[in-house]
Amino acid sequence: MPNVHIFDHPLILHKLTILRDKRTGHKEFRELTEELAMLMAFEATRTHPVREIAVETPLARTTGWSIAGQEIALVPILRAGLVMESAIGRLIPTARVGHIGIYREHDTLQPVSYFVKLPPDIAEREAMILDPMLATGGSTVAAIDTLKQHGCRSMTVMAIISAPEGIRKVHGAHPEVDIYTAAVDSHLNEKGYILPGLGDAGDRLFGTK
Ligand code: PRP
Ligand code: URA
Repeated sequence: MPNVHIFDHPLILHKLTILRDKRTGHKEFRELTEELAMLMAFEATRTHPVREIAVETPLARTTGWSIAGQEIALVPILRAGLVMESAIGRLIPTARVGHIGIYREHDTLQPVSYFVKLPPDIAEREAMILDPMLATGGSTVAAIDTLKQHGCRSMTVMAIISAPEGIRKVHGAHPEVDIYTAAVDSHLNEKGYILPGLGDAGDRLFGTK
């Protein structure tokens, strides 16, 4: 699958397995989501450009490195993406944050957009779209459409678990967008849930069911 990057770091595999477990409660589920988001961002930014800078230690002057290239915007899809944003924001504190509110309509599974607030310079930034679940792909495609309508040309998707159907849908509409994920699961069930998946990410994060 071109433009799909599947992480195989042992820490990611281990934490994802606990995240999937139905016995994992809200507190641990949220902590694991944060940890996975950080580990995934760490891996996904591996090729980000750096520039050489001078730095003075208490003992000597030396050269170091500073993050360079395009500035980042973290764009969580509400609700579940919020937890990934708070974690990755600790790693990349200079990132601006844009919020996109989308939910799946219960019966049709079509994405319903209800909120958009993006940094004013989003056209100049690389947007990192954050959502733990890429299922039918409808929400992610809608988020990419919204970002493009606001002039953004550079974006990546970070999904903890993806379904093959969702990846196909995103790349059918936006083949140039890189997808970073910790797992590509088997398929969707008749209600649009990822199998084996982890259930409803928003409900497990926020205790709403
Ligand atoms: C979940 C999930 C994604 C979406 C994925 O959100 O967090 O945003 O479903 O499904 P899709 O790929 O089929 O679009 P949900 O619609 O449950 O909204 P919520 O986070 O507000 O509960
Ligand atoms: N949204 C979720 O939270 N889980 C799924 O399996 C599919 C969509």
